[in-house]
Amino acid sequence: MTNESGSPERLREKLRTRTARAGVIGLGYVGLPLAVEFARAGFTTTGIDLDRRKVDAVNQGTSYIPDVPTADVARLVADRKLDATADFGVIAELDTINICVPTPLRKTKDPDMSYIVSAVEQIAAHLHPGLLVVLESTTYPGTTEELVKPMLEAGGLKAGVDFFLAFSPERVDPGNPTFNTHNVPKVVGGLGAESTELASLLYGAAIETIVPVSSPQAAEMVKLLENTFRMVNIGLVNEIALMCDRLGLDVWEVVHAAATKPFGFMPFYPGPGLGGHCIPIDPFYLSWKAKQTGFDPRFIELAGQINGAMPHFVVDKIADALNRHQKAINGSTVLVLGVAYKRDIDDMRESPSLDVMALLHQKGAKVRYADPYVPALAGRAWHGGFDMATEPLTPDAIAAADCVAILTEHRTVDYEMVLRSAKLIVDTRNAIAGVHPHVLKLGAPAPVLVRADEAEAAA
Ligand SMILES: NC(=O)c1ccc[n+]([C@@H]2O[C@H](COP(=O)([O-])OP(=O)(O)OC[C@H]3O[C@@H](n4cnc5c(N)ncnc54)[C@H](O)[C@@H]3O)[C@@H](O)[C@H]2O)c1
Repeated sequence: MTNESGSPERLREKLRTRTARAGVIGLGYVGLPLAVEFARAGFTTTGIDLDRRKVDAVNQGTSYIPDVPTADVARLVADRKLDATADFGVIAELDTINICVPTPLRKTKDPDMSYIVSAVEQIAAHLHPGLLVVLESTTYPGTTEELVKPMLEAGGLKAGVDFFLAFSPERVDPGNPTFNTHNVPKVVGGLGAESTELASLLYGAAIETIVPVSSPQAAEMVKLLENTFRMVNIGLVNEIALMCDRLGLDVWEVVHAAATKPFGFMPFYPGPGLGGHCIPIDPFYLSWKAKQTGFDPRFIELAGQINGAMPHFVVDKIADALNRHQKAINGSTVLVLGVAYKRDIDDMRESPSLDVMALLHQKGAKVRYADPYVPALAGRAWHGGFDMATEPLTPDAIAAADCVAILTEHRTVDYEMVLRSAKLIVDTRNAIAGVHPHVLKLGAPAPVLVRADEAEAAA
């Protein structure tokens, strides 16, 4: 029997008329843009976060996520469509609640579910008939049904009957000027047809295209397929880069030419390793779950090994480059250009640049960095033990380094100036166009080595 006050009709009506009150737990890269979209769609929306600085920022009408303009937050807060709190008691007044908390890995590469558990405990404490709960955090297939559902049902209300439960993966791509929360299709898998329909109604108000699937597990698996696809293909192209390096071929030329095939090929590019909160991490959620069924997911493990070895390969490349100038890593100044995990953003989570810096530091290099998006770097962030500030991107700062290692190709950097000013460059992103005697590229033929004895003899 459907609980009267939890009837789907009431929620359906509130969602249709945009009178439902929406909530989002976790106001980070995923949660803040989502809360803004819900508010923009007309729902009075409350963000809940343990981080009081984020709560205060939202309530003051400011954004701390580069893809979310402060003007949008300011307008929605002024219109009383958006606010934030650290008090979970507000859930009692909400009609919908989305969970957008982190899902990191433990050191053992096992899923760390503590953030989801803590958020769901808070929802359970304030669960009421008619509430729609949607998990968005990337996680292993089965989380919604095996972990979240029993926790919420412990109080006596039944999922799909008294309250509604769904999983809908987030696909945000920070820094992408074309695709954002609003225009990226949203996959929705509910626990039962009604939960799917209600979650689709909620998202349909704020997002252009909704893609319903048959269950929360299917929706969880969709996200993991997407991220595993990227991880494995990046692993493949990194291995191709290592082969090109040995064969004296230019992997960038090869990938660009292959990408002209109008079907059956999608270009991926090599680099110093995997970064970000998703691609290096999420596939291990799938791998962990698969192993519990006795299945050995080989592609994920292999891609993880190849991608994980790339920072070491880059350090070898820097050693090779310095060797050409008869220098060792020990004692050389290496300027790392770009510490964010990908171009045009400020996010350093899991950035391979941090691994490269730590390895260089261990080998005695004087490590510096320059990144227009990252003004300061704490010692604990890169295991180097000391805090640093970005070097200015000036000809003098570039020229002061024995080697400049381009690890993230931010588009605002003047690479012509870098090329002119640097003594030596290791380019892992193909940021420098053309072939130059003082530039070594990842996965490309090295310039001719000038032997010290021959140079001396010629002098
Ligand atoms: N960032 C991305 O590009 C991206 C893309 C797709 C999916 N995801 C997934 O979305 C989820 C969130 O990622 P994110 O990048 O937004 O993380 P984030 O670290 O930017 O934000 C998470 C927020 O949750 C808050 N928080 C943590 N525990 C909480 C709790 N118990 N109650 C309330 N607030 C809590 C934190 O203070 C933080 O503000 C993860 O599962 C991630 O894998 C992220």
